[in-house]
Amino acid sequence: MNYRKFLPLLLALFTLTACNNTTDENSSMDKENSKVNAVVTSEETTTPESTEPPAQEPNIEVIDGITYVDGILIANKTYALPSDFNPGVSDEAYDALTEMEIAAAEDGISLFIVSGFRSYDDQDVIYNRYVSQDGKAEADRYSARPGHSEHQTGYAFDLNSLEEYFADTPEGIWLAENCHKYGFIIRYPKGKEHITGYMYEPWHVRYLGVDIATSVYESGLTLEEYLGITSEYQD
Ligand code: DAL
Ligand code: ZN
Repeated sequence: MNYRKFLPLLLALFTLTACNNTTDENSSMDKENSKVNAVVTSEETTTPESTEPPAQEPNIEVIDGITYVDGILIANKTYALPSDFNPGVSDEAYDALTEMEIAAAEDGISLFIVSGFRSYDDQDVIYNRYVSQDGKAEADRYSARPGHSEHQTGYAFDLNSLEEYFADTPEGIWLAENCHKYGFIIRYPKGKEHITGYMYEPWHVRYLGVDIATSVYESGLTLEEYLGITSEYQD
């Protein structure tokens, strides 16, 4: 048999068969290709001007109902603590506060605790007293709802005076300038109510450890901005 004579026919048949067999594959290949193209396209749209690194998403972990953002335990209007979370004051935070009080005293500054750890139930009583006094909307500006207070973490302290004038006293000025050196930040700074959820509290410090507190202090940001999180009630 002279196969050469049939070669064109055989080739044509082979091509047809091959095409038929790969119809489905081709369509899925097309999908894959379009995915590849989509990736390439998005890469192409990364213009040389857009050199800004993408804003880093916070790493939010919830362990036993407690929220950690980049490893930092958070209680604010967005993130609540369980009602049975009752750790008491943190030894580490308390020791740091004592160290800060000693350093302040050496500068002629007297710092003392007015309020430290508060349980869920303590906060429930306090918050509801403020609500009956001032109404809910006003109370929400300066008092946390139960489960949302940083005092329940064991890492927060109110010092000396719960009056805004404290900011302008030698103690308030010393605290704002130095507390980061002992691991604390002024948690609710002036003019940041729309971010932290609370009015200015120059007396409320939150322990974060020296490295993070110093980094937050130097950033000039609130803790919410520093971590890229919100502080807003759902309702
Ligand atoms: N005063 C602060 C916001 C609290 O109630 O925890
Ligand atoms: Zn406080």
